[in-house]
Amino acid sequence: MRKPIIVGNWKMYKNSEEARKLVEELIPLVKDATSDIVVCVPFPLLHVVQPLIKGTNITLGAQNVSWEDEGALTGEVSAKMLKDFDVKYVIVGHSERKRVFGEKCREIGMRAVQAVKNGITPIVCVGETLERRNRDAKSYIKIQLLEVLEDIEDISKVVIAYEPVWAINGIKPATKEQAEEMCAFIREVIKEKYCEEAADVVRIQYGGSVNSSNFADFMAMDSIDGGLIGRACLDAKEFSKIINYQDK
Ligand code: PGA
Repeated sequence: MRKPIIVGNWKMYKNSEEARKLVEELIPLVKDATSDIVVCVPFPLLHVVQPLIKGTNITLGAQNVSWEDEGALTGEVSAKMLKDFDVKYVIVGHSERKRVFGEKCREIGMRAVQAVKNGITPIVCVGETLERRNRDAKSYIKIQLLEVLEDIEDISKVVIAYEPVWAINGIKPATKEQAEEMCAFIREVIKEKYCEEAADVVRIQYGGSVNSSNFADFMAMDSIDGGLIGRACLDAKEFSKIINYQDK
């Protein structure tokens, strides 16, 4: 049995005061949740959120990590620095990093390796654009996965997020069938690259326009083990309803 993992991606939202309010409101609302809960906050908010969630069932995450231990890399943050703040998860290869900042799969793979090396679980994002959707979505996802995972030996130390680019920040999520089909395919690719046991344990999330009305439907699918949530995680009540999806 794979334990569900629900991750909020705050992107570039919230200042310190708003962060404090959101987390303080969220803590009591999700205290009985049975899933792993992660908030991936902007770097300057790590020190705000870390003490607030200490001793709760919420875990801290970041939104990127450098591929190097240290160095003259202006604007980058190392895994060692993240570890200082008790960061346990880090998103790598989010489609916004690829689209806006030109990150490439090989480099994303190096970021993932650096996270694993430092005991931080990378949440590796893959997804196809609308243009690819009706063309070669599966082979495209497979290429992305194999490039990013090239140097990952132990896949159980990684979480994969399937986020179709056309569903992120949009009005329409993928259907549960579309999401399941691709998550099951990702599991197949993992089985081919690693082994059946590895494919059974790796957790695969769906992300893209998830909200409290549709999340339970995604979670009812066999291959979907959680969600990577953008907009809907910025409101404590809405995010808590997603986290408590089994109460629906
Ligand atoms: P969304 O974002 O939930 O706002 O669509 C998801 C994401 O970008 O991870």
